[in-house]
Amino acid sequence: MENRQINFFKSKDLNTVLKPFKKGTVVKIDSFEIRENQNELKIGLFGWYAICPSKELKKDKLFYFSLYDEPLVLYRDENKNVRCIKNICPHRGASFFEGTLSDGVITCPYHGAKFSSGGSCQNLDRITCRHIVDNNYDNYAKRIHLSQYKAIEKNGYIFVHFSKKSDTDLNNISEDAPISNYELYENGFTHKDYVYEEVLVDFKCDWSRIIENHLDILHLFWVHGDTIPDKDVNKNVLVSFNQKINVTPQYIESIYYYKNEPTKEFIRIKYIPPGRILIYKGDPSAARYLQVLDHIPLGNNNARVIVRHYRKFLKNKLFNNLILFKENQRKIFYKIFDEDYMILKTQTYNHNMGFISKDEIKLLGEDRIINYFWKWYKKSEDKDEPWKNNIKSQNLDVYDKVILKYPPEIKKLEIANNIEIIRKTFVRFAAPLIFFMLII
Ligand code: FES
Ligand SMILES: [Fe+2]
Repeated sequence: MENRQINFFKSKDLNTVLKPFKKGTVVKIDSFEIRENQNELKIGLFGWYAICPSKELKKDKLFYFSLYDEPLVLYRDENKNVRCIKNICPHRGASFFEGTLSDGVITCPYHGAKFSSGGSCQNLDRITCRHIVDNNYDNYAKRIHLSQYKAIEKNGYIFVHFSKKSDTDLNNISEDAPISNYELYENGFTHKDYVYEEVLVDFKCDWSRIIENHLDILHLFWVHGDTIPDKDVNKNVLVSFNQKINVTPQYIESIYYYKNEPTKEFIRIKYIPPGRILIYKGDPSAARYLQVLDHIPLGNNNARVIVRHYRKFLKNKLFNNLILFKENQRKIFYKIFDEDYMILKTQTYNHNMGFISKDEIKLLGEDRIINYFWKWYKKSEDKDEPWKNNIKSQNLDVYDKVILKYPPEIKKLEIANNIEIIRKTFVRFAAPLIFFMLII
């Protein structure tokens, strides 16, 4: 273990970057301390990804998504177990778009092949003529089989173990990345003490850029200064932080302390590769709130984030219903992600731009955790090459239309949420008031 103290305050680069913000926010990281435990994060992008909340998997509905541009489908089999299959029919490669699911059996829309939850074809006679393959019928039957990744359901999320090595037999798939890294109780949280709100958000930008955004506290004050309901986070606040970074093979954690009150913590950000970020304050066992962000690399310039905001306060359901807490919280989420999207969609044109080239981008002392992330990401991408040999539909627009379904990219849900707030407010407050005025 190594401890280092470096003061960046007099850095020339730092003064340069702060200049444009003279009239507004100035947020500075004055010094940082690094605790490096076995030095660096384990390299690799393959492993468990949280894909969606459990409730998104509706009865007899196929849930389409992709990972690193590989088209995939989630659904529940007849025993309600979660399945993740490649979106390719093993007969002649049709997509299951417009296919059906009934009691765990998927029917392909092209020739009507039906696949059981185990993945084998149940009606081979439908897709071949028995006399043509008479001598080899059984062998042929064995080869027509869905290709799958391991999927599990835990704490209200569906997780998929992605490695680009799908298999027809799930027992053949190894899981080298333990899912326990992701689990909240393994990270010290008693998650049963919390209630939460959640949203899913889709972006047409690179996955890694969104992670970078969530590791970056400096933008909170500037980009979200008018939206985050915290008086200490706004455009006119001037703050200095000291930063303590903890690096282990499983995670990087950065803790920000106020410079003028060294024991007072502003926030902690913990990155658990490949896709999870935890944001909270203080010791996990006592944290009043916890934000869990799961990042899903749908494809090149397509990404999804699941945001869950857990809290130990304002837990009364009746009261929350009355003040439309869930809907208003969603509204804040959507606004925050709209603000980020304004930056993200123009910042990234393709995923290659995510990499830091020292000539083009100057990382400063404040960006230390981001620097760690990029180094890890570059090495991990070189190792696993997740974008190599992508299987893509001929018409990518088809995929975008089916797979991207949440704001800010698709506005529909955000508008529906705003209408719901107006409708419920009217029903709860305005309508009784009008009724009361009419009768007196
Ligand atoms: S491609 Fe699916 S049944 Fe033929
Ligand atoms: Fe942001």
